[in-house]
Amino acid sequence: MHPLPPGSRQPAFLQTLHMRDPVRYFETLRRRHGPVFRMKLLGFPPQVVVSTAELAAEIYRTDGDGGSRAGALRAGYVPWVGRHSLLTNDGEEWWRHRKLLNPALHGRSIAGYPEMIAEIAAANIRTWPLGRPFALREHMQAITLEVTVRLVFGVRDAGQGARLRAALLGLSRASGSPALFLTPARMRTWAETSPLAMRLPFLPTTRAMRAANAVDDVLFAEITRRRDEEDDEATDVLGRLLRARDDQGHPMTDQEIRDELLTLLEAGLETTATGLSWTFERLMRNPEALGRLQDELEQGEGDAYLDAVVKEALRSRPVIFGMGRLLDRPLRLGAYEIPAGWVAIPMFSLILQDSAVYPDPEEFRPERFLGENARPAQRSFLPFGGGRRYCVGAQLATMEMKVITREVLRQVRLTPADLAPETQRMWHASLIPGRNAVAVARERPMRRGPSAQESACPVHPAPPER
Ligand code: HEM
Repeated sequence: MHPLPPGSRQPAFLQTLHMRDPVRYFETLRRRHGPVFRMKLLGFPPQVVVSTAELAAEIYRTDGDGGSRAGALRAGYVPWVGRHSLLTNDGEEWWRHRKLLNPALHGRSIAGYPEMIAEIAAANIRTWPLGRPFALREHMQAITLEVTVRLVFGVRDAGQGARLRAALLGLSRASGSPALFLTPARMRTWAETSPLAMRLPFLPTTRAMRAANAVDDVLFAEITRRRDEEDDEATDVLGRLLRARDDQGHPMTDQEIRDELLTLLEAGLETTATGLSWTFERLMRNPEALGRLQDELEQGEGDAYLDAVVKEALRSRPVIFGMGRLLDRPLRLGAYEIPAGWVAIPMFSLILQDSAVYPDPEEFRPERFLGENARPAQRSFLPFGGGRRYCVGAQLATMEMKVITREVLRQVRLTPADLAPETQRMWHASLIPGRNAVAVARERPMRRGPSAQESACPVHPAPPER
């Protein structure tokens, strides 16, 4: 008989209260109990948390042998993303969709995107206020939204694009409402399906369902238009999904395509915007790394350091702190045995701070991902999860982050509005910069050798320009 791992003895409601600051709480539990510990949060099955990449691999192994399910834990998304979503499904249905979506988001399929992403970023940067503090995260959200509308949904018509953007923003506001988040699951299911509740406009569920219906109106019209158009050359994700065929040669239905488009929006929009916000938050407070990156960009020789900067930002400030699996069979983790019915979580926020792999983990050091250091750093690099459920948008997200970071640094000089690093604040399943990455942007002087002003320490902001 193998024991359960150690863990907190506090009642579940007290453990849940600690989730206001999850990063610190998990770190405390790891220090107290070691690399494997258990937790109990209100409304969830018992959980086991692991804090090394080797232990995470044991959990990911269960993806392949049917020993666990990831989709079952994300059932709360079904009202928005529908029944056919990659996020919420498991088993055969999930595997069929994963095979349909993978090619649309990989390597060659997205190789032509950087130019348009850079254009979208440049247009947004032109709207930034110069010389006074503003929240970078809002602009990163606007850029990633535009990328989704044009390159994922493939909307070219300006009017249709404006309608879709307005509907998506409405959905994002309504579905992000804390009141909705706090509505107990059973009441929420009733309110979302009851014709009576749907007539009460003040309910958060009614607002969210109406916002989702507004998005559907635009999306289904767009899917119909694109089917009629029969463009075999379209390179946007919707165009590729319309042409995709499963193993039996069947195309995806309109409903399946709609569900997956909303899935990509739900999973890809905020995450990429947050990853970018952290990249700038970290760069602004690490002038050496910022200087080295600017040198690389100005010399125009490759993007090895840019790649390392993006990785180090995702390592030091993971957007998602952990993503679990619901165990259908008992799982051996070292000396412990975790019963079926528990949730096993590779905790990225701990794994990416493992000092055995990342010395001085609190320091922002992109050099970890260069040269001979790169291999071990890369092995434990899990901000996009792992196993068979590894983030399907990881390549697109990384490319977007690199292109947008390059474009921003080409156009403006950024300094932090406040020298203190921003805290990691919980927002749904993400950790966002506590003050939304507040920065001060200044016009970049025309490119020549680095001037005295250029080489001044970027963590000491100059007084606002008049
Ligand atoms: C910095 C940006 C992003 C981060 C940090 C991120 C992170 C993650 C993580 C941790 C998972 C869970 C993996 C697991 O369970 O092991 C995931 C899954 C997923 N991500 Fe991302 N993601 C990002 C961007 C994107 C983008 C741009 C898209 C799509 C356009 C996307 C689509 C998805 C989907 C559909 C899943 C579910 C995959 C499945 O269950 O098969 N993500 N992501």
